Amino acid sequence: MYLGLDLGTSGLRALMVDENGVPVASAEAHYDVSHPHSGWSEQDPADWVRACEAAFSDLQANHPADFAKLSAIGISGHMHGAVLLGEDGQVLRPCILWNDTRCAQEAAHLDHAPGMRDISGNIVFPGFTAPKLLWVETHEPDVFAQVSKVLLPKDYLRFWLTGEHVGDMSDAAGTSWLDVGARDWSETLLSQGHMRKDQMPRLVEGSEISGMVRPELASSWGVTDVAVSGGGGDNAVAACGVGCFKEGQGFVSLGTSGVLLAAKDSFAPDPATAVHTFCHAVPDRWYQMGVILAATDCLNWLSARLKRSPAELAGLVDTLNGPSGVMFLPYLSGERTPHNDSAIRGAFIGLDVGTGDAELVQAVMEGVSFALRDCLEALRATGTELQDVLAIGGGTQSPVWVEMLATVLGLPLSLPKDGEFGAALGAARLAMVARGAAVEDVMTQPEIGQTVAPRADLADAYDAAYQRYRALYPAIKDALA
Ligand code: XUL
Repeated sequence: MYLGLDLGTSGLRALMVDENGVPVASAEAHYDVSHPHSGWSEQDPADWVRACEAAFSDLQANHPADFAKLSAIGISGHMHGAVLLGEDGQVLRPCILWNDTRCAQEAAHLDHAPGMRDISGNIVFPGFTAPKLLWVETHEPDVFAQVSKVLLPKDYLRFWLTGEHVGDMSDAAGTSWLDVGARDWSETLLSQGHMRKDQMPRLVEGSEISGMVRPELASSWGVTDVAVSGGGGDNAVAACGVGCFKEGQGFVSLGTSGVLLAAKDSFAPDPATAVHTFCHAVPDRWYQMGVILAATDCLNWLSARLKRSPAELAGLVDTLNGPSGVMFLPYLSGERTPHNDSAIRGAFIGLDVGTGDAELVQAVMEGVSFALRDCLEALRATGTELQDVLAIGGGTQSPVWVEMLATVLGLPLSLPKDGEFGAALGAARLAMVARGAAVEDVMTQPEIGQTVAPRADLADAYDAAYQRYRALYPAIKDALA
């Protein structure tokens, strides 16, 4: 048996799979994000450990025979967070998360420092790890002085599981301290960020063994000899869950944030486009992605305002008849691709007295779709073309949203059949590979339920609406300045 752990932003999911990679059981536990000041987003790593303990107890109690056969654990997690550890392994302050924007100034400063973009292959976005440490240096110097190790969120779970400080290349790629082409820490980038290599964990590939579960934990769970694989950042590991490795393969994710990801055979960065270029969770592969910070989060926001559930709101738009007269800019939390602008905020444009809830929902779905088209154009500008694209994430529950997105992107989108295909499955698969399975055998594509084609009759109208959408960012930026 193998276990995949996905440390998400709102909760932890544990998925147990058998020797053939077939899911047999799962458990979940939730925790909060705290926002002590505007733009701040933090979590207490102790909550992750508690969630992990709860999920393990659940699996052990409800599936004792399977759990007793556990051979390896794979771990995935939200990227970019900074868990700061002191000399004796204690957590020095709450983890600063991927969607925290307090260090925009530090990010802009680092982004201009020599070598940063060339070596890391990426813009230094405010959500990334390196600028967080510069912020701590300035604002919490006592904490900064005590930092003995910096771990990414899922690597803190590994530290709890194995007692070792280890990271993997896919997650480390989002720190701005990694030479992403060479898959190793860069002394140049570390010194630009006022960090030292001894403060970094040892690196392994996601599909390698990183350590063994501590004997005390293993005996309390009634298991022995359980390996922990390197694992990876959530998007790389989700790509493992849907078998996305080869050039031309990709996925679009309509989750809290939105992602358009393309697998790459080689390291081909283009930071000027605000595309992210990171190591994959398996050796010798990379991936590119455009990231928008609010996708279904925009519908959740509208749902809270209109006091109607997101599902009820999505149901108000039941056929696709062409672009709405109302435009929506989905920048509720600022934006990464293509603007790298943490200060920009969203907008509705074109409201009239007759605008009702359905029009607002359609505008939100269109705004998110146009933002993902921006990501597609950014990927294209680097020479990347996608042929084989899966659509995943909560937003794909709305058939109209998927058809709209296919039309706006001009790409057919394949929807996996119901079942497991997310980061928890990808993590379990990395555990299997760490124990000797072959990547090609294990990391297969999910069974496709349906492929949604772009609507040829609406393509021109949506292209024209996308051009109008593109003109709005500079105008809103000026209006908010
Ligand atoms: C990727 C990113 C998010 C987080 C949270 O760069 O910031 O996808 O990993 O899911």
